[in-house]
Amino acid sequence: MKQFKEKYGDYALITGASSGIGKEFAKQLAAKGLNLVLVARRKNKLDELASELKKQHQIKVKTIELDLLNDKAIERLVYETKDLTIGLVIPNAGMEVHGDFVKNNYEAESKVVQLNTLIPMQLAHIYGAKMVKRKKGGIIFISSTFGHQSVPYFANYAATKAYILSIGQALNYEFKKSGVDATVLSPGLTKTEMVDGMKDMDFGKMPIVEMKVEPVVKKAINALGKKQATIPGGRNIFMDVMGKFTTPRWMLTNMFGFLVHRAMVNKY
Ligand SMILES: NC(=O)c1ccc[n+]([C@@H]2O[C@H](COP(=O)([O-])OP(=O)(O)OC[C@H]3O[C@@H](n4cnc5c(N)ncnc54)[C@H](OP(=O)(O)O)[C@@H]3O)[C@@H](O)[C@H]2O)c1
Repeated sequence: MKQFKEKYGDYALITGASSGIGKEFAKQLAAKGLNLVLVARRKNKLDELASELKKQHQIKVKTIELDLLNDKAIERLVYETKDLTIGLVIPNAGMEVHGDFVKNNYEAESKVVQLNTLIPMQLAHIYGAKMVKRKKGGIIFISSTFGHQSVPYFANYAATKAYILSIGQALNYEFKKSGVDATVLSPGLTKTEMVDGMKDMDFGKMPIVEMKVEPVVKKAINALGKKQATIPGGRNIFMDVMGKFTTPRWMLTNMFGFLVHRAMVNKY
């Protein structure tokens, strides 16, 4: 634990910490003794979590109410953290839009690209540069098993997660010479507000099993400094390996198209 704190302290910066996977990262990193900077739009949720974690562990927690899609959001974040040593960054905040691509709202699809790709890239650049200078630190990127192939009806979302997988693995290599760790977590279906909100999807019709946030996050923290990328859950790993090594990509796309369409409650 001391070694972890030494390498990734003083502070871990987590975006999207008000719920789901981000909130669980906050809990597990607090238990490892890291101070936290928690970012999201719902300040009340962040403050609630902060006081719980400060009580349980002897740590400092700063909460920042911020819509990452606002103009100058990154500048504000940099300003708010200028006096802190950020040793671990988890650009976790994300959103999804699904359905027939051309029928989806064009602006919502654009926000998906901005929040899921542009913001993580900017955070990795800004805080990554400081870590490289200090010769220590880490970044945990949040992709998805949907980013490991094309997924019709989640076309844009899956593409953003493919971007994250690609940049995260590349940075794992680039950062290594400076002693900075980057790893990519690709969760499969995980029980969070995002999934609970998809009332028009019946994921029971897909050959996937919903996981809890605890093991998903634990897998990522264990992979940091050891692996370029990691997938939590035996079934998710099996599907990925089978997909990669036994099925041509065009066939996987068709298979996912069939499966996702079947799981959609309101068919197009
Ligand atoms: N759940 C899954 O099955 C699954 C699978 C693969 C990958 N993922 C990825 O895991 C990450 C976390 O998602 P989750 O499943 O934990 O969903 P979640 O519970 O809905 O969490 C999303 C987080 O992002 C924050 N957020 C959303 N828009 C924001 C904005 N404009 N500015 C700042 N914060 C914003 C939300 O906080 P506020 O609403 O308070 O701003 C919330 O804390 C995402 O990148 C997602 O793509 C999830």
